[in-house]
Amino acid sequence: MSSQQIPEENLPVEQGTAHGAVEGAGDPFADPGLPAHKPRIQDIDERAANRSERAVALMFTLSMLATVGFIASYVIFPVDQIVYIWPFGHVSALNFSLGLTLGLALFLIGAGAVHWARTLMSDVEVADDRHAIEATPEVKAKVLADFADGARESALGRRKLIRNTMFGALALVPLSGVVLLRDLGPLPEKKLRKTLWAKGKQLVNMNTMEPLRPEDVVVGSLTFAMPEGLEEDAHDFQSQIAKAALMIIRIEPDNIKDKREREWAHEGIVAFSKICTHVGCPISLYEQQTHHVLCPCHQSTFDLSDGARVIFGPAGHALPQLRIGVNSEGNLEALGDFEEPVGPAFWERG
Ligand code: FES
Repeated sequence: MSSQQIPEENLPVEQGTAHGAVEGAGDPFADPGLPAHKPRIQDIDERAANRSERAVALMFTLSMLATVGFIASYVIFPVDQIVYIWPFGHVSALNFSLGLTLGLALFLIGAGAVHWARTLMSDVEVADDRHAIEATPEVKAKVLADFADGARESALGRRKLIRNTMFGALALVPLSGVVLLRDLGPLPEKKLRKTLWAKGKQLVNMNTMEPLRPEDVVVGSLTFAMPEGLEEDAHDFQSQIAKAALMIIRIEPDNIKDKREREWAHEGIVAFSKICTHVGCPISLYEQQTHHVLCPCHQSTFDLSDGARVIFGPAGHALPQLRIGVNSEGNLEALGDFEEPVGPAFWERG
């Protein structure tokens, strides 16, 4: 081939006419086709193509030499020879030589292949147009005929007794699934809405198991409390404490922003559910300067000086507050149960 001959597949192709482009100038939705192919210098100049060929061959040859160097390293360098090589410092001569020669051998194979593909392999873009996915009229007619044959052979239209009883059987069988729902156990009814708190129940310190007195709750401390009479060895201790556990803190009454919270407190002592309203983790981290409590599970943060409203995180609603007072013995007591369900929001919606 002379140096000025251009292979036919490399001749420029006019834009908009290649590979199934839709005809129709002026139609904005017409397929523009593939862009025109721009020949590379190697496509039109045989000498440039030969130069590229030699460059690729050189890289493959150097790769071969690097591989020979890799094998020779085992003969040349003793296993324990250490040499100083800037900037790596003191290294094993054998390891360094093995790494260098193997790295070069692989790199040169890759570089040669890339250069070959970019300069000498054909870069003409090829498009394979999709065929229509709609069935032909003949196929559609055959499917309909087969369906009609099947219906006729099954005698579904003629045997009305069979057809009607079959429809009845198919309609009734899903009812079995409804009955199986009974196996999910009894409904929770009001159990999730009620806790052990009731009017007159004393608050018991969960650490000392002693009734909690107002003077035990100092500003800046976080105290956990549970209802009196709940024994740790009771069979339902875990389920009861999971609903009834309280956080008790003292806030200067003037610093309580929420009116109802102030009224339900005793001299600034407030009692909130310890159970996070997100998915029910026990809250335990208290920041006394801001009166924020943080749930360790997903970082929901509640402001205990403002009705325990959520100020950050995924929790859906504020922590329920328990109304408290002091009984004749000077101990803190509940003035009733929580007025809203404790814990995750789905209980509230249930
Ligand atoms: S359980 Fe408290 S933030 Fe998720």
